[in-house]
Amino acid sequence: MTNTLLEAKDLTMVYGTVVKTHALKGVSLNIEPGEFSSIIGYSGSGKTTLLNILGTLDRPTSGVLRLLGEDVTKMSDLQLANFRNRNLGFIFQFHHLLPEFTALENVLMPTWIRSRNGSLKLASRAKELLELVGLKDRINNKATALSGGQQQRVAIARALINEPQLILADEPTGNLDSETTEQVYELLRNINSTLNTAFVVVTHNDHIAAKSNRIIEMKDGLITKDYPAAGMDRDVLWNEIAPVYCRHCNREISTEGTVALL
Ligand SMILES: Nc1ncnc2c1ncn2[C@@H]1O[C@H](COP(=O)(O)OP(=O)(O)OP(=O)(O)O)[C@@H](O)[C@H]1O
Ligand SMILES: [Mg+2]
Repeated sequence: MTNTLLEAKDLTMVYGTVVKTHALKGVSLNIEPGEFSSIIGYSGSGKTTLLNILGTLDRPTSGVLRLLGEDVTKMSDLQLANFRNRNLGFIFQFHHLLPEFTALENVLMPTWIRSRNGSLKLASRAKELLELVGLKDRINNKATALSGGQQQRVAIARALINEPQLILADEPTGNLDSETTEQVYELLRNINSTLNTAFVVVTHNDHIAAKSNRIIEMKDGLITKDYPAAGMDRDVLWNEIAPVYCRHCNREISTEGTVALL
């Protein structure tokens, strides 16, 4: 039994019926737990199409996709929605926060979708995540009263609330200035290192991609290159970041690897 997180085999995607666009022409890739990968490639090469299929937001025209050992191509829409809510997190270029809700409420939103009953435990977990992304003092601000970078950090906390094993991000910093971009990526790497959450991030930013563990290059609907990036040594990275304090276990977490905060 393999513990591969994601196994995609020969994925194709054809948009349209009269005029057909072959957006994916046979993409195969595996993602392992805790991996931090970047997808790069020219505009129109199929990055978003691939990410949406890997995240089960779209169904491929053909091919097989296994996530956590389950063949998701066979699931119904409702089963998929449940599966996504439990196992996957998403961060988009435009954060899609609900403007009338506070930072805290936005982070809790996926848990409300999962179950109508909010719990105190979840609220404290959401606060902890907002603290982790540096927004301790903005917990009760409405989304509209936050800067672009702060809103994106709320979206990152929201992606983490259900403790997904895999987070898919489509140009998560495409809308941010270069300094905030660096901060957001540092945060993603920090989360990757601390919680062992795997990331697949579409980016146009070569500098950012170079900091991944792996770079996947796409061209014309195909993966043309797939290679290890120089990356950041996970131990070095770990030494550079402050340990996360876990209120539930009442201690600082400083060990690398899979750490359950709850
Ligand atoms: N809903 C759609 N209907 C028809 N064609 C589509 C649709 N979405 C994407 N395409 C086409 O599929 C191809 C791949 O698009 P995709 O959005 O995956 O590219 P991308 O690599 O994410 O580009 P970008 O860097 O500009 O975001 C493009 O030729 C695009 O025009
Ligand atoms: Mg795109």
